Amino acid sequence: MNEATILNVKHPDGQYEVMVGSGLLPRLGELARIAGPVAVITDEHVGPLYASACGEVACVLTVPAGEQHKTLPTVNGLYSQLLAAGIDRTGTVVALGGGVVGDMAGFVAATYMRGVAFVQCPTSLLAMVDASVGGKTGVDLPEGKNLVGAFKQPTAVLADIATLQTLPPAEFAAGMAEVIKHGLISHPRLFQQIEDEGRRLRTMSPVRLQTLVSEAIRVKRDVVQEDPFEHGRRALLNLGHTFGHAIEQVSGYRVTHGQGVALGLVAAAHLSARLGYCDAALPARVEAVLRQVELPTRIPADLPPDPIYRAMFSDKKKVGNRLRFVLLRDVGQVFVADDVAEGDVMAVISQR
Ligand SMILES: NC(=O)c1ccc[n+]([C@@H]2O[C@H](COP(=O)([O-])OP(=O)(O)OC[C@H]3O[C@@H](n4cnc5c(N)ncnc54)[C@H](O)[C@@H]3O)[C@@H](O)[C@H]2O)c1
Ligand SMILES: [Zn+2]
Repeated sequence: MNEATILNVKHPDGQYEVMVGSGLLPRLGELARIAGPVAVITDEHVGPLYASACGEVACVLTVPAGEQHKTLPTVNGLYSQLLAAGIDRTGTVVALGGGVVGDMAGFVAATYMRGVAFVQCPTSLLAMVDASVGGKTGVDLPEGKNLVGAFKQPTAVLADIATLQTLPPAEFAAGMAEVIKHGLISHPRLFQQIEDEGRRLRTMSPVRLQTLVSEAIRVKRDVVQEDPFEHGRRALLNLGHTFGHAIEQVSGYRVTHGQGVALGLVAAAHLSARLGYCDAALPARVEAVLRQVELPTRIPADLPPDPIYRAMFSDKKKVGNRLRFVLLRDVGQVFVADDVAEGDVMAVISQR
């Protein structure tokens, strides 16, 4: 078996290891150095496939799958089940699943008995490269996504890439949108690797997949390490997301997050080229790589530009009255601009 790749993540209270490799789950206790009782939190899709691989644990708590269950009522149920299973402050909560499980289990670990140890075992590509690193956890409120949460650093992250074999293709594509985003932010070699891999991405060898995942994590690691509480540089991770969130919202979430990010990356590239910040050929390059992984590159014709523009103003990441965009100078070179004129933004989102 190929050796796991290990990335060390430093944070204000210490550090932890992110391990990326095949066949890590059966070694959970040893690799994550868990002492006390283990409570695995998973969802109804992932639990039946992988909970038994995690060895002997005190309890497996299964929640329904999907963002609509990332809520305080679900968290409440989890607290009760942890109590019923006799998990005390010596316990460890293990998140086994996608970003929904990771965010919610992390919030439970941050708050149950004022905080217990937490280990992330991400099983979706998005959770591996994005959600499981950086310490942000939380749940949604009826009023909006991720409105309640806490920073909770894991003691270890085990990204077992063998689990990606069962990930539905659309979820793999959604994760690839974030991987491509990470390449654009600061890793031209990663971006190039995806371009070279072409349509073979889904059938990539475990060794190459391990490299792809660990290099994508490296980008997020480097950014969050420099800005653990999101005061500055972490804003760069929002590349494509101001456009993306607005498109998702206006579509009534028919456009998924991964698709929204893809459309947002295309819009950010076009805006950058239009304003003369990057080569005029860059947008086509971004579009081509997204098409390779079957992500959309054109905003659906039935979503008019006006509501998209207005929705961008409700984004919680905007500063005061100004829209803030992450723009590109080249693959691997991004910066924040908050002086973009409405006309230029409208021109880009009117493009079909
Ligand atoms: N905390 C952060 O920094 C951060 C960053 C990005 C996203 N997020 C959050 O992550 C969530 C999205 O995560 P996601 O895309 O992983 O969604 P998800 O957790 O809903 O997983 C997507 C689907 O894939 C299934 N699945 C996961 N792994 C599988 C596997 N190996 N085999 C078969 N099915 C599998 C899940 O059951 C689910 O149905 C959102 O709630 C978002 O807010 C958090
Ligand atoms: Zn995203």
